[in-house]
Amino acid sequence: MNIVLMGLPGAGKGTQADKIVEKYAIPHISTGDMFRAAIKEGTELGLQAKSYMDQGALVPDEVTIGIVGERLAKPDCEKGFLLDGFPRTVPQAEALDSILADLGKAIEHTINIQVEKDELIARLSGRRICKVCGTSYHLIFNPPAEEGKCDKDGGELYTRADDNPETVANRLEVNMNQAQPLLDFYEAKGVLTNIDGQQDINKVFADLDALLQGSR
Ligand code: AP5
Ligand code: ZN
Repeated sequence: MNIVLMGLPGAGKGTQADKIVEKYAIPHISTGDMFRAAIKEGTELGLQAKSYMDQGALVPDEVTIGIVGERLAKPDCEKGFLLDGFPRTVPQAEALDSILADLGKAIEHTINIQVEKDELIARLSGRRICKVCGTSYHLIFNPPAEEGKCDKDGGELYTRADDNPETVANRLEVNMNQAQPLLDFYEAKGVLTNIDGQQDINKVFADLDALLQGSR
């Protein structure tokens, strides 16, 4: 199954992607995670991405398109894939079409998780992430059983560098400006499905799962 999962920062893409890839056994391709891994490893890509991410700006299309193209050509994508946070601009969406055409693949589900701005701010300001496995928690909406520790592996929880109020405000503005033309692009093709992301995490997953199983 080939899936594109879109949504503004904090909409719950990562949270839902973890559940989908676990159930459907497909690779989770998150451009944000790829950039953060490159920053941690100190690669050239990481150096390039960091200055944009620290400001809450988008990494340039040519850089982002390049890494996604390479990733989608890997053999593990033969069984399907979930793109999380890509495409985010119309040029990225157009590039994705041509990458997939070259690979002889097509997207089966183009999904947008919809959440209001105030809720996004509340989610991002309370997010905590496991240092070991990357699972996202929330201080109020999705707290771990033991404060500051991951339920799965006991890993320490930290706040993402771009989750400070100033960067969050900029991320939301930048992404909101890009989102409508992108959604219009897929709407015009008649392939877009909107999911209500304001419900609790398990209810959002139930809706997504019903869609993926073809019963929605
Ligand atoms: P990226 O890592 O993709 O970040 P983002 O888009 O800002 O999205 P987030 O990861 O912040 O949110 P999410 O939707 O995954 O929410 P989550 O599930 O964690 O990108 C980071 C940066 O990389 C970008 O700013 C940009 O610089 C660059 N980049 C990445 N892709 C790019 C691209 N294609 N082009 C150019 N640049 C790119 O949930 C958030 C919180 O809410 C958590 O605490 C969670 O527990 C909680 N939560 C989740 N669901 C619910 C719910 N239903 N109810 C209550 N709480 C919930
Ligand atoms: Zn963990």
